[in-house]
Amino acid sequence: MNSTQPNQILIVDDNPTNIKVLFDCLKSAGYRVFIAQSGESALEKLAVITPDLILLDVMMPGIDGFETCQRLKNIPNNQNIPVIFMTALNETEHKVKAFSLGAVDYITKPFQQEEVLARVNVHLQLCNLNQELRSMNEQLEKRVAQRTARLSYTLEQMQVMQLQLIQNEKMSALGNLVAGVAHEINNPISFVAGNIFPAQEYLKDLFKLIALYQQEYPQPSAVIQKTIKSIDLEYIKKDFPELLNSMEIGIERITNISHSLRSFARSDTAKKQLFDIHEGLDSTLLILKHRLKANEDRPEIEVIKNYGELPLIECLPSPINQVFMNILANAIDALEEANRGRSFAEIKAKPNCITVTTNLSQDEQYAIISIKDNGTGMPQHIKKQIFEYLYTTKAAGKGTGLGLAISYKIIVDEHQGKIEVNSQPGAWSEFIITIPVMASKGVS
Ligand SMILES: Nc1ncnc2c1ncn2[C@@H]1O[C@H](COP(=O)(O)OP(=O)(O)O)[C@@H](O)[C@H]1O
Ligand SMILES: [Mg+2]
Repeated sequence: MNSTQPNQILIVDDNPTNIKVLFDCLKSAGYRVFIAQSGESALEKLAVITPDLILLDVMMPGIDGFETCQRLKNIPNNQNIPVIFMTALNETEHKVKAFSLGAVDYITKPFQQEEVLARVNVHLQLCNLNQELRSMNEQLEKRVAQRTARLSYTLEQMQVMQLQLIQNEKMSALGNLVAGVAHEINNPISFVAGNIFPAQEYLKDLFKLIALYQQEYPQPSAVIQKTIKSIDLEYIKKDFPELLNSMEIGIERITNISHSLRSFARSDTAKKQLFDIHEGLDSTLLILKHRLKANEDRPEIEVIKNYGELPLIECLPSPINQVFMNILANAIDALEEANRGRSFAEIKAKPNCITVTTNLSQDEQYAIISIKDNGTGMPQHIKKQIFEYLYTTKAAGKGTGLGLAISYKIIVDEHQGKIEVNSQPGAWSEFIITIPVMASKGVS
């Protein structure tokens, strides 16, 4: 209803005298009046106009007022138009029926002009108020729905943030532990490493001295001869230097491990820095070594490294390592899942394998890292969801559904890179990460 335009009223009556009385009265009160002389013609008019109120005669040739009322109320557009029946004074059952069909009121013939106007006014006002109420209700409902949507979004975000915090916390705890261990073993390594060289020199001197003794005293006493024999001096001479050499190699290996651990735990997460991606991959593989090793169910998981030439990459080392960790851990999970029901011999015939390939893009702007496993692979419907927060196909307690969502965030949001997945169900999965060599360049 529009308040700037006069209200429209439709009179439905077959009696010209009635029509005239009502028309004049309503017209002079400022209403815009339409007329229909039968139920049928009223319904036709209602297809074109939507009046604010209908005055409907009960007794008419053709379809009567009741029937007309019923039919017009069946049309959704007309349902809210108030209908006032016009009936003779004594027709009580008509009035009852009229109300039951949805009429809001009735007026009795012969008409009292004041009464007609008063009733029409009241119902138009009521109708107006009703309409306002309805639209306010609608607005309220809309607002409630919007707010509910906002709230549930916020809640979801909070849950995700909480889980992410836990994951970050775990990663940083792991980082601290690893850094701590690396630091602690550094000292003992350095004094063992530092003593091997003098030990080798002392040994040479001692052997020289023995040789000299043997030369100056070619005939030692029986006890000495016996001891030389029992300790197998010749063998010691040959073996001792080798033993020290292998200790030297062992120490070198521990030094490398400690170096890798420190590289994995690089805690400077806030600022991008130049980072050797291969060092990141190697140190992550080292941390996962215990999961790659052979056990009673399967041989060792083979790791094939096809490393290409890569420059140092400007990135956040710790988060990048976290991505490698998440993807490699998933690959191991997928391999273990695929191993289920296969015997040691069967697995050995078609070994578990993870292939890590790195390349520089043709234009040399991006580093491309592919991590592929020959585990379970994944069907299309799973592949579509793996980057969603909390999506996991693993048992409760085993999977959090966060690894790939966080990896996506790190690669795409924090490094303007790309992370893609290819897979053949039952055969293999491959994750391909593309990151810009220089932080200012994003992947388009
Ligand atoms: N290499 C893979 N092979 C098969 N499925 C994988 C692989 N990596 C990830 N997925 C699927 O993606 C899901 C989500 O992985 P992720 O976000 O790391 O969560 P989670 O490992 O805790 O389940 C996994 O549950 C798994 O279904
Ligand atoms: Mg995972």
